[in-house]
Amino acid sequence: MSEIKSYIDNNQQRFLDELMEFLRIPSVSADSKFKNDMLQGAGFLEDALKKAGVDLVEICPTAGHPIVYAEKIVNADAPTILVYGHYDVQPADPYDLWDSPPFEPVIKNNRIYARGSCDDKGQLYMHIKALEVLSQQGAPPCNLKFILEGEEEVGSDNLEKFVKENAARLMSDVILISDTAIIANDTPSITVGLRGLSYVEVEVTGPNRDLHSGVYGGAVANPINILCKMISSLIDDQGRITIPGFYEKVQELTSEERAKIAEIPFDLEKYKEELDIADVQGEAGYTTIERTGIRPSLDINGIWGGYTGEGAKTVLPSRAYAKISVRLVPNQHHAAITRLFTEHFTSIAPKTVTVKVTPHHGGNPAVTPTDSTAYQAASKAFEQAWDKTPIPTRDGGSIPIVALFAEVLGVNTVLMGFGLDSDAIHSPNESYGIFNYLKGIETIVFFHHHFATLSR
Ligand code: BES
Ligand code: MN
Ligand code: MN
Repeated sequence: MSEIKSYIDNNQQRFLDELMEFLRIPSVSADSKFKNDMLQGAGFLEDALKKAGVDLVEICPTAGHPIVYAEKIVNADAPTILVYGHYDVQPADPYDLWDSPPFEPVIKNNRIYARGSCDDKGQLYMHIKALEVLSQQGAPPCNLKFILEGEEEVGSDNLEKFVKENAARLMSDVILISDTAIIANDTPSITVGLRGLSYVEVEVTGPNRDLHSGVYGGAVANPINILCKMISSLIDDQGRITIPGFYEKVQELTSEERAKIAEIPFDLEKYKEELDIADVQGEAGYTTIERTGIRPSLDINGIWGGYTGEGAKTVLPSRAYAKISVRLVPNQHHAAITRLFTEHFTSIAPKTVTVKVTPHHGGNPAVTPTDSTAYQAASKAFEQAWDKTPIPTRDGGSIPIVALFAEVLGVNTVLMGFGLDSDAIHSPNESYGIFNYLKGIETIVFFHHHFATLSR
């Protein structure tokens, strides 16, 4: 196995250079001005997969950004691993908060700084390099398929259709995804749960035009005042969401399961220090790890209306808006929660305004098994590469495709991510540790070997 390490060691500069080239493509899915860069991103992957030794690669057009599909079939009797990743990234705005431009990757303090370095271009590229390592050693021990999408950060609108139409082709024994985090570089972990998401936009309308806040103020409802009141009523003093029926389907964990979570190493002081906050908050009766891992949450992602330009303008605005994300846990269903939210939000509006709720994307929560062959293979791979048994953890983020794969293909996922919470994904100055990148490649190669052996 030391050949694996030495091959990665000997090629690390090239592995980094290739990733930097990938990161230079501004593959922002949300913003149509990057549409061409999305195509370039897909093209880059096509080339990279070919060079790594796949026997088939296709750029599959969708109604949105293309999906890249590839295969390396070594033996009809060997188990098949389907790798999922996304080559689209979050918008890098606001650019002036970055210390170096988001699409001009730089290496500092043994980290690669660029939008997408961790989420998910860096993490998906590890799988392509793992295939190169495996091809170099002879043939990979498992069949390998890749499905790399360009719309994860905008809700994977066209993926469900693709998965349904190509179900036979995507059939596999396990889905392998690196798009999550480990606890720390000295505490590896495997993600076994992800939260779901219901995302909505709300609009509150008052008078038919912006008014003078002196002439009308105090007599006519101000939509921004009303919106703030409505929003603050959504969470009570105990940190619980007040939407009727919201917790009905929430799976409560047993005291044994919660005791396991309490054993996970977590340094609250360091957590607060890293975020420059004096204290944390959340639902009463739950720890910080539980609040993000096993409990739902509701957050305003943006709120606007009225005058926000320079100086002062005395105005009572006609409209107010907000974007709201609701994170879900098993067994909440995103469409059902969106419905409950809409009914509730509309019902609490006073007669002085009208309210419109527009649903955006959503996704269901997922838990992945810890008693599967694939989990064992992942656990052994970490032991081999990191000298530690990985701890199962539940992450607060969402990857809606995990629930979808289980539903449509009946195939379970192993979430073998290598990021850290401090990588600042979705934030300015996103970065990915070179250690994590190279160690990740090694761990993935080990996974292929263990999965082949354990599947026999
Ligand atoms: N990779 C993240 C999800 C993630 C991050 C999972 C950290 C676990 C730990 C993914 O790219 C993402 O950002 N997902 C979106 C959901 C999507 C529907 C827009 C999210 O969680 O906001
Ligand atoms: Mn991601
Ligand atoms: Mn993301």
